[in-house]
Amino acid sequence: MIPPHELRAVAVIGAGTMGPGMSAVFARHGFETRLADVQPEALERAKRTVDGVYRVLVGAELLTEEEAEAGRRRLTCTLEVPDALRGADLVLEAIPERLDLKQQFFADAERHVSEATILASNTSGIPITELGKAVQRPERVVGMHWSNPPHLIPVIEVIRGKMTSPATVEATRWVVRRLDMIPVLIERDVPGFVENRILYAIMREALHLWNEGVASAEDIDTIIRWGIGYKLAVIGPLALLDVAGLDIYHSVASYLNRDLSNATDVSPVVTQRVARGELGVKSGRGIFAYEPGEIPALMEQRMRRLLEVKKALSRAAT
Ligand SMILES: NC(=O)c1ccc[n+]([C@@H]2O[C@H](COP(=O)([O-])OP(=O)(O)OC[C@H]3O[C@@H](n4cnc5c(N)ncnc54)[C@H](O)[C@@H]3O)[C@@H](O)[C@H]2O)c1
Repeated sequence: MIPPHELRAVAVIGAGTMGPGMSAVFARHGFETRLADVQPEALERAKRTVDGVYRVLVGAELLTEEEAEAGRRRLTCTLEVPDALRGADLVLEAIPERLDLKQQFFADAERHVSEATILASNTSGIPITELGKAVQRPERVVGMHWSNPPHLIPVIEVIRGKMTSPATVEATRWVVRRLDMIPVLIERDVPGFVENRILYAIMREALHLWNEGVASAEDIDTIIRWGIGYKLAVIGPLALLDVAGLDIYHSVASYLNRDLSNATDVSPVVTQRVARGELGVKSGRGIFAYEPGEIPALMEQRMRRLLEVKKALSRAAT
């Protein structure tokens, strides 16, 4: 295994929603970065996304113009996946979330990289152990799960598969720190890891309450944003238990847990909408209805707010 501080070249494979932002972060932090995709249109879009990412970060004063320019110089895009892989010290795949595609990718990739190359997956929840089964040297397969938008959300889950070596885990955590991000170690690759398990628990209960008519969709989101989310950015739920008092939690949880949704099926309000083609912002209607032309402004507003919160939290942490 290459000592972490000698890791220089990164290949990001898959230039869809996640690949461009992750590549921009690697390149901006000094890694020679190659971004590959098999679709020319995806790669063209990715170049525009990378430019947009740097523009947003410079605009928010989270990056200087010179740093952005250096990042652009260190990032190359290619349609030739083997070219991107050759010489890479770390490969991060961000191809679609399908076990067969990812296993095939890793099996092929292993033929183009050195024995020391780390093979990381941005999978949202496929067990890393299953991906490791596709390669000759599974000890170098690791999860590196970023959140969307990847240039703004600072936490990255580093997931240990059953066969992942301690050196691979350590090198991956080192890389995450080099990116000015926060590595969190997931010791066992349970489906969905930690972030998505908790997010999906929140979503299941929110959908349940809405379906039961307990509150409107707008009001449920308001309670989560201003009652829960705001607080959780400063104190995690486990530390919050200590603040609230474990005795209080014990008495509330002993009657409330029984009443919470434990549905194993997807909520009918989602299933019905998917069947009608109401998929959310991508189709103009989902849980909420969007006016024509409203969506780009809404997305931009959310991005601006995320940047402001990030800056405020960084200030609060110093
Ligand atoms: N979208 C998110 O919010 C998000 C967040 C965290 C993690 N993830 C995970 O990241 C991964 C990628 O997600 P995404 O939303 O960016 O996917 P996407 O569908 O937007 O993009 C995938 C890209 O991979 C390309 N591709 C497919 N097969 C390829 C191959 N063999 N070689 C090179 N390129 C190939 C496709 O052309 C496409 O451009 C998934 O595992 C997903 O679960 C996604």
